[in-house]
Amino acid sequence: MMGDMTDSMVGNMMGQQSQQKMISVTELTGPKSGEPDQRFTLTAQETQVQLSSGAIVNAWTFNGQVPGPQLQVHQGDMVEVKLINKLSREGVTLHWHGLDVPNAEDGVAGVTQNAVQPGGSFTYRFVVKNQPGTYWYHSHQASQESVEKGLFGALIVLPQNDSFTGKDIPVIAHSWPTKKGSTQQAFDTFDTLKQLSVQPGTPVRLRLINTDSLPINFALSGTPFKVIAIDGADLNAPTELTKQRLLVAAGGRYDIQFTMPDTAVSLDWLQKSSKVSFLLSQDATASAPALADGPVFNPATYGSPLKTPLSLSSRFDKEFTLVLDDMYGFYDGNMASLWPINGKVFPNTPMLMVREGDLVKVSFVNRSWMDHPMHLHGHHMLVLSYNGWPVTGSPWWVDTLNIAPGESYEVTFRADNPGIWMDHCHNLNHAAAGMILHLGYE
Ligand code: C2O
Ligand code: CU
Repeated sequence: MMGDMTDSMVGNMMGQQSQQKMISVTELTGPKSGEPDQRFTLTAQETQVQLSSGAIVNAWTFNGQVPGPQLQVHQGDMVEVKLINKLSREGVTLHWHGLDVPNAEDGVAGVTQNAVQPGGSFTYRFVVKNQPGTYWYHSHQASQESVEKGLFGALIVLPQNDSFTGKDIPVIAHSWPTKKGSTQQAFDTFDTLKQLSVQPGTPVRLRLINTDSLPINFALSGTPFKVIAIDGADLNAPTELTKQRLLVAAGGRYDIQFTMPDTAVSLDWLQKSSKVSFLLSQDATASAPALADGPVFNPATYGSPLKTPLSLSSRFDKEFTLVLDDMYGFYDGNMASLWPINGKVFPNTPMLMVREGDLVKVSFVNRSWMDHPMHLHGHHMLVLSYNGWPVTGSPWWVDTLNIAPGESYEVTFRADNPGIWMDHCHNLNHAAAGMILHLGYE
């Protein structure tokens, strides 16, 4: 989905940057030497996978499975991941969605590296920052097709002293378009949603990860619960919820926690005409609780604020407004739906230029008819306002913010990770049809 950029172009851009700002190489890459704390190998390969419906599909997998292996690391760990590409024709990279790694380890084909071609390999090394929480990894070469076909997995960062003793369950929600009949498209899910036995009284943490290209509405029924983290960042003083629909952005994560009651709990993925359930119960014969569905949970008013130096009245060094829109136009020689930012589609979108240390404010305005889950690489954004109303709840940090039609948000982030970074819609069809821009450091 990215334009081709040669090695030397990337080298030049990096080179100019280090000259101007005297950035040392260690800030742009992970550690080149030293024994890693965790070592993984991920091999991209074609594999036939059975979906929960029973349908068999030709998937692109890591190590023969969808989702790929769950990578579990601790904050502060030095991690080494070797990527091997055994696909027959497509290039592959690894992007650590939501982890703020050095730029050269970010895995964006055409920007931070060339895609690893079939038969090739690439080793990523980085130290996990102080950001315990829920993340995921995926290929970032022809992302739309690669992610849809299965090149992704969960990435969990545990705190250094993990005191949680309950059940910690990552739940990846992903759908697979399959042709039913001649023209109709239906969706089929991977077999990650099923039944799990949990003893009453057990603390349960569900890590909801949306690897799909559309927002997912979840409902949790059978118990009150708290939303304890969004996009890997803990929320301050979360309160108990019942009957609240959780809208998780494409690419986004919500962590929820509750104590297992005596009766069953179900997590439902609410779809237009159906729902997919994941049942937690003492035994497999338990019946599902009544669906607890209600108004959409709003993080902007949830939990308690913390005294923070960052607010709408902060002094920002740079301010940008990004208007997300739709249009119809020529793309790759065909008339197509395009998804412009400030009237332009990639590669003609504006580049956000910042200096290291800048406090940056970005206003997102969605004037189109679809949701845009905007994902910024390498940085975390603090949400300041929603539709003009200041956030009154817990500090709400995101790396993937769903902006629905008609909505506007103001966010801020500190430019503290030099390099060239993508900022794009994680509805990967939209990214492929224009909704991408880059953040660069002067
Ligand atoms: Cu999850 Cu640019 O990607
Ligand atoms: Cu979009």
